[in-house]
Amino acid sequence: FLPDAAALVIGYLLGSIPFGLLLTRLAGTTDVRSIGSGNIGATNVLRTGRKDLAAATLLLDALKGTAAVLIGARLSPEGALIAGFAAFIGHIAPVWLNFKGGKGVATFLGCLFGLHWQAGLAFCGVWLAVAALTRYSSLSALVASVAAPLLLFALGHGGEAFVVGAMAALLWRKHAENIARLRAGTESRIGQKG
Ligand code: G3P
Repeated sequence: FLPDAAALVIGYLLGSIPFGLLLTRLAGTTDVRSIGSGNIGATNVLRTGRKDLAAATLLLDALKGTAAVLIGARLSPEGALIAGFAAFIGHIAPVWLNFKGGKGVATFLGCLFGLHWQAGLAFCGVWLAVAALTRYSSLSALVASVAAPLLLFALGHGGEAFVVGAMAALLWRKHAENIARLRAGTESRIGQKG
């Protein structure tokens, strides 16, 4: 029990570090929460006009998911999944920001790479293909997040597929406003300030 609890706590704490907010604050840009979608993720950091900060946010938000999975794997047999799931929850509901966190895309991706790199690569491939076709970051993430658990299931990783599927369901839930904008045709495209 103790190693599982440690994986949960370490995963959550790692995931709850809001890199988008920290980096933009350090750089003194406009508060990401007051522009665009108001989200603290890389897509909205890009709307500050700072591509470097957006790339760093994507990388660090992903790496914290990967780190959680790798640390969890050393703690207990189920530690990787527990810590990865906890990191995802930490990102979307960080205690430091009154539980108002990000939408979980980069951290989801980082967890996938930590669990099975093939699933991480598949996510990137689907994301890039949908983004190339539509220029919608949200739609790309929504489609890629469904592809990931399906691939894990196809590869015979049923337990991981189930947990990653639950993460995908939460990711969809966090994108409710994006989904409404996509349906209304008002979602902003990648790089648009909107
Ligand atoms: O990664 C989040 C992305 O899917 C949507 O971001 O800022 O357009 O809501 P945003």
